[in-house]
Amino acid sequence: MTHHLKPPLVTIKPVAKQHSALGLGCWVFGGAQWGGQEDADSFSAMQAALDLGITHFDTAVGYGGGRSETLLGEFLKGRREEVFLATKFFPAEQTAEYVFGQLDASLDRLQTDYVDLYYIHWPITGKDLRPVMEALEQARAQGKIGAIGVSNFSVEQMEHVSEVGHIDAHQLCYNLFWRFPERDIIPWCAQNGTAVVTYSSIAQGILTGKFPREPKFKEGDDRGGNVLFKPENWPFVYEGVEKLKALSAECGRSLTHLAIRWVIEQAGITSELVGARDAGQMTDNAAALDGEIAADVFAKMTAISDEVMSHIPDVGNMFGFYP
Ligand SMILES: NC(=O)c1ccc[n+]([C@@H]2O[C@H](COP(=O)([O-])OP(=O)(O)OC[C@H]3O[C@@H](n4cnc5c(N)ncnc54)[C@H](OP(=O)(O)O)[C@@H]3O)[C@@H](O)[C@H]2O)c1
Repeated sequence: MTHHLKPPLVTIKPVAKQHSALGLGCWVFGGAQWGGQEDADSFSAMQAALDLGITHFDTAVGYGGGRSETLLGEFLKGRREEVFLATKFFPAEQTAEYVFGQLDASLDRLQTDYVDLYYIHWPITGKDLRPVMEALEQARAQGKIGAIGVSNFSVEQMEHVSEVGHIDAHQLCYNLFWRFPERDIIPWCAQNGTAVVTYSSIAQGILTGKFPREPKFKEGDDRGGNVLFKPENWPFVYEGVEKLKALSAECGRSLTHLAIRWVIEQAGITSELVGARDAGQMTDNAAALDGEIAADVFAKMTAISDEVMSHIPDVGNMFGFYP
């Protein structure tokens, strides 16, 4: 049996603009938390993305304190219309003034007067985010944003803000070693007309197979704090990567390609974000979409993933971040 790739173009309603199902994650362009990053490399990754038809760009004010947004603004000058542009803000205050202040500052950095998708980046435990959602609906009515998103929300948190607005997209962590959203969040999205956009889709690089049995991180590279690298979890993850590498060798596709394709193959996934530091990584990631991959390869990957997942504790998110 052969696999037929999903159409590479998708929409996130109510925005009519079509964009690639594979999106460029622009967190690393901020430099902070990733052990530094050269702007020239970030520009080369963005250029490669456009050249390869990758037209969904995802950023946030939190990525390098606005640096990622600023670079996107410079890059997109004169070609804003070519991309589906998404950004995010942290709802530190739950007022319309605060939301509009955050949005206007992002629009300035991005050098545009609208974003296609604007996300609440994280929920805050114990805070009522309905006033934030109301403000987002106002921003939508004013044409400053096309679609409203949430990120890292539970079903309960989504239901709460849905009382006053419509969640068009949920951006969540999803990869072969982090599948907890399958349980209730992805099904909720399917039932409520909410697109699912995946992040850390190659587990912050783990699913390229680049990390040795004893991984070391550059100063300022926060990946060491990822739950998957914790000493009690890493041996299982590492073994899973080794099994996936053997499968990759058998079927003649790189592990990175298999991991990217596995995500987009799963039920309920609209769009998949993968970060790239430079043109080389972007080109490699886009090449994942080429060619057919047999269905039994995906089934074998899922079986390896099931085994690893049985050892990973559901601690809420991969970063141990609990605002
Ligand atoms: N909403 C949220 O809370 C949230 C959270 C996380 C991410 N995101 C979004 O999702 C995007 C993607 O997630 P992510 O950046 O965390 O992780 P990811 O896409 O799983 O991994 C990206 C990293 O893997 C490495 N890499 C990528 N392609 C490679 C290739 N072909 N070969 C070798 N290494 C490669 C690069 O780092 P090295 O070269 O340094 O290894 C790159 O920075 C982010 O950029 C951001 O837009 C959102």
